[in-house]
Amino acid sequence: MIIDLNEDDKEIIEDLESKFKEIFYVSILNDFNFNPYTKYLVYLVDDKAVGFINYYFIYDRIEIVNFNVLEEFQNQHIGSSLLEELIIISKYNKLLNITLEVREDNKKAIYLYSKYGFKKVSVRKNYYNGIDALLMEKEMM
Ligand SMILES: CC(C)(COP(=O)(O)OP(=O)(O)OC[C@H]1O[C@@H](n2cnc3c(N)ncnc32)[C@H](O)[C@@H]1OP(=O)(O)O)[C@@H](O)C(=O)NCCC(=O)NCCS
Repeated sequence: MIIDLNEDDKEIIEDLESKFKEIFYVSILNDFNFNPYTKYLVYLVDDKAVGFINYYFIYDRIEIVNFNVLEEFQNQHIGSSLLEELIIISKYNKLLNITLEVREDNKKAIYLYSKYGFKKVSVRKNYYNGIDALLMEKEMM
């Protein structure tokens, strides 16, 4: 089950922050309070968070900021389901595009994005400590 996280989902927020500690060094509530564009799709199994996409919904486009599935839940189509949900949201809202940055050695993520129609549109040299970042876009129009 996928939910659109909000500030009242206190238990899920705590669960996410404890499972993805290295990502949430800024708290999710803080993010909600100070960033009007931030949104989270969270994949729950038995009411526990096992994966999420954090994205910015910026007027007519979406930028994926973070996309993670717990290692023990990977390769079970959870990441795909989250991406599919994001694409549905983009279509429903008639958005222009979805964009993201990915390390160019992250073959699995690049495979997945390509599978859902994202195309490489630019390269940011040495973006990740000597590793290039690919800027990928899925055009929605
Ligand atoms: C990227 C990530 C979110 C994908 O989530 P997931 O739930 O494992 O993804 P899915 O199970 O839906 O799909 C994985 C696909 O990659 C394929 N795959 C697995 N390992 C692969 C590899 N080394 N190279 C290429 N493809 C690979 C699988 O076969 C599957 O493809 P299929 O559905 O066509 O069979 C997850 O692996 C993750 O959290 N990675 C660490 C964080 C990360 O890299 N995030 C992205 C940052 S841009």
